[in-house]
Amino acid sequence: MKPPRKLHIKSYGCQMNVYDAQRMVDTLAPEGFVETASAEDADLVILNTCHIREKASEKVYSELGRLRVAKETAARQGRQMRIAVAGCVAQAEGEEIIRRAPVVDVVVGPQSYHHLPQLLERAKSQGRAIETEFPAADKFGFLPNPEPDAIRARGISAFVTVQEGCDKFCTFCVVPYTRGAEVSRPVARIIDDVARLADNGVREITLIGQNVNAYHGEGPDGRSWPLGRLLHRLAEIDGIARLRYSTSHPRDVDDSLVSAHRDLPALMPFVHLPVQSGSDRILAAMNRKHTADDYRRVIDRFRDARQGIAFSSDFIVGFPGETAEEFAATLALVSQIGYAAAYSFKYSPRPGTPAADMRETVSAAEMDERLVQLQELIDSQQSAFNKAMIGNTVDVLFERAARNPGQIVGRTGYLQPAHVFASPDIIGQVLPVRIESLERYSLLGQLAARPMATARSPMTDTPELSISSQTIMGA
Ligand code: SAH
Ligand code: SF4
Ligand code: F3S
Repeated sequence: MKPPRKLHIKSYGCQMNVYDAQRMVDTLAPEGFVETASAEDADLVILNTCHIREKASEKVYSELGRLRVAKETAARQGRQMRIAVAGCVAQAEGEEIIRRAPVVDVVVGPQSYHHLPQLLERAKSQGRAIETEFPAADKFGFLPNPEPDAIRARGISAFVTVQEGCDKFCTFCVVPYTRGAEVSRPVARIIDDVARLADNGVREITLIGQNVNAYHGEGPDGRSWPLGRLLHRLAEIDGIARLRYSTSHPRDVDDSLVSAHRDLPALMPFVHLPVQSGSDRILAAMNRKHTADDYRRVIDRFRDARQGIAFSSDFIVGFPGETAEEFAATLALVSQIGYAAAYSFKYSPRPGTPAADMRETVSAAEMDERLVQLQELIDSQQSAFNKAMIGNTVDVLFERAARNPGQIVGRTGYLQPAHVFASPDIIGQVLPVRIESLERYSLLGQLAARPMATARSPMTDTPELSISSQTIMGA
């Protein structure tokens, strides 16, 4: 047994980074590392970084400034603190990070974190260790390397990576450079992960990938499976009540995905489908390779397949050369689609991307103004969507005790947090809740009687079977 050491990980950016941070914890556990909530008393601090916008990247250096002080304090107390930078800034800037912040011992890219134990050893003997290689995928885009051990279950809802990287090269975006080309994990491995998580109490799986619906993993039949087919297969796994996937690209929505929404009650009717802009000229300059109308048609296909399906999206305002009319086209698209939620960002030029060389910039004041307008519109749609829940009875998957004593919190199919006063026994179950009120973004309600149509089956009256069978029923 290795002596216990304390590990603190701070993660920025997208859900892929959240997942990778968990994998790092799992990779370092056999080395004796246990997680700690504070950086100050840690033996190893990992910053799992995001490079997507300038603000995200710069956060890393201000955090490293604070860590330098903590490292010096630790040294005075006779403790050695080591500092690693992981994630997309590590990939994009590599050695440059150590030049700017000599306090850093290890720099590790998103494809290499399973080598962390070796890199820490190397840093010990050589002072520094840097690894930012991409493993080469074969010609089908399948990952050649044996993968690290399966992820440990943490609670009721879990992420599972099915795909990594991006081949789309939107002109504003760093992801193709920091995460490399699209690669998909084989179906069998994903089934193993999901089955193991389900055995350990997980009820909801979110399949993640930078471009999750570009998934084309090798199936057990040796053929390439699209995401819709994978979802059909995963829905058969015992105990899995809910399936989600994120983030998808409008260009990669195929019939298998649309029909999965029609056929699979476990596939939640909520899709994050970023569009970025409502103007065709801007979409072309962004290299999105779809028009606003193409996007509208994709939304219509989903809506035809599944009643009550709702959408969220991402938008960029102030892309180089965006005129007032082009921005108005974005507002028009948002008004027309009607979102349950959406994220909007001011365009941020990223070094090395084609858009960073575009000259016609939009003034900071104009960008601010557009962002406020767009966010007001999105907020009004989101509150209307949330308010419309009041008085309805909706299924909630309960995840944990809430901060408020006596309350249990879960999520609706649309990811809205929903609180009820109930016994913790309901954690892990999908139960109908009558929604009574809305507090900011949270719904409050009471457990409701199950409607007659889905009355208890004889199976669910068997106490030891109640969790998995009820969740499946409720989904
Ligand atoms: N793969 C996903 C999302 C990637 S990044 C997709 O294609 O939609 C998440 C969001 O960050 C993007 O959807 C975009 O809205 C935003 N983003 C990416 N690069 C940006 C930049 N340079 N400036 C501002 N926002 C950006
Ligand atoms: Fe970036 Fe575009 Fe790829 Fe999304 S699809 S990760 S925005 S390059
Ligand atoms: Fe950021 Fe990298 Fe994710 S740049 S958004 S952490 S893929």
